[in-house]
Amino acid sequence: MNTKISILCFAGSLRKGSYNKALLRAAMEVIPADAQLEIFDLEGIPLFNQDMENQPPEKVKEFKAKIRAADAILIATPEYNYSIPGVLKNAIDTASRPYGDNAFDGKPVAIMGASVGMLGTARAQYHLRQSLVFLNLYPLNQPEVMVPLAQEKIDQNGRVTDQKTREKIKELLEALVIWTRKLKKA
Ligand SMILES: Cc1cc2nc3c(=O)[nH]c(=O)nc-3n(C[C@H](O)[C@H](O)[C@H](O)COP(=O)(O)O)c2cc1C
Repeated sequence: MNTKISILCFAGSLRKGSYNKALLRAAMEVIPADAQLEIFDLEGIPLFNQDMENQPPEKVKEFKAKIRAADAILIATPEYNYSIPGVLKNAIDTASRPYGDNAFDGKPVAIMGASVGMLGTARAQYHLRQSLVFLNLYPLNQPEVMVPLAQEKIDQNGRVTDQKTREKIKELLEALVIWTRKLKKA
């Protein structure tokens, strides 16, 4: 039996009722047997100030350590004004610094996203991919999990009720585990 693939995941939203946090909880429920998943909350990561990058607070140290310890990363991004939210960009910038200490270096990563609009974070996801490439992560290409009209697929309790969406998340996790094992062998 292969050792379990550990996946660290986070959502680019601080909102309690976040649809993107709901996607991560659904991922917890459909995780393949040979993988484990931990959700990290970005609440408490301060706004990045390069003057302070050599004295990171505990929350940032913890974030970077968890990224490094994980075999793979999963990001659930909202779409804000056709791009990724500042909260997510700030967290990514923070964990990539100081120069030469990029916690993401070489990690496989999968992305997904939910929005109330018709395109289900498509525009934000392509912006996110661009930053991930620069940080030398290895983004998974397929499947693309873009969840439009999230208000119709996630209930009042923050549970993903739409069966197709749950299936897509499952496929994404399965593909991420295969991708991660391939990269580990390389
Ligand atoms: C500042 C802001 C900008 C937004 N821009 C977009 C957008 O460009 N496209 C879109 O589909 N939804 C947009 N929305 C709506 C989000 O899809 C919606 O707020 C969603 O619930 C955010 O994700 P969350 O539930 O995980 O917090 C925007 C919302 C905010 C607050």
